[in-house]
Amino acid sequence: MEKIIYILLLLILENGNFYKDIKTIYDPTTYDFLVNKNIKLNNDYIPNDLELISTNYACENKYLRKEAKEAFEKLSKDAKNLGFNIIAVSTFRSYDYQEKLYNNYVKEKGLYYADMASARAGHSEHQTGLAVDVSDSTLDYDNFEDTKEFTWIKDNAYKYGFILRYPKAKFDITGYKYEPWHYRYVGVDVATYIYENDITLEEYEKLKNG
Ligand code: DAL
Ligand code: ZN
Repeated sequence: MEKIIYILLLLILENGNFYKDIKTIYDPTTYDFLVNKNIKLNNDYIPNDLELISTNYACENKYLRKEAKEAFEKLSKDAKNLGFNIIAVSTFRSYDYQEKLYNNYVKEKGLYYADMASARAGHSEHQTGLAVDVSDSTLDYDNFEDTKEFTWIKDNAYKYGFILRYPKAKFDITGYKYEPWHYRYVGVDVATYIYENDITLEEYEKLKNG
């Protein structure tokens, strides 16, 4: 079964429009803008309002843009009060850091696997300062899907303005395999719409722009 899914994903990657007709964003002004395999950030882009997340809610030296940081700390605090430990393990990543990460994936796993799991430099939402990879207190986000923390966050993140960005079975739209740990801040109104309608950010932008 795993093998069949892998071959299916390969076919979609090969035949889709991913990494073609690429558009560059220089200075994003909203919170719901798209960064994906067709829309990249300028190589030099670093948000100017990054703030350090408290180590009560994150590993050391983790930064998000001010509004996303405040929303994430609230989410994690409320979760903690309910008995769930939701920790930010990866947040803002620079262009250069993403380049190293992606190249390492290619070296370790090959080009196709790398493209299913990791963004090429400039194309990662982590460069926006609005994306966060979370884990429970084990800090092992690979097993996050099986935790009680995941069960809570998947149905509550939207209340704080976050969406599950790479859902199961949306590979043909997002270009990435399922990532139960990756959440993107888009603001409460947009997140609520996306959650209630069970769509991706790509589908939302398409609806918005007609
Ligand atoms: N893993 C996500 C897709 C990234 O590299 O940004
Ligand atoms: Zn991520």
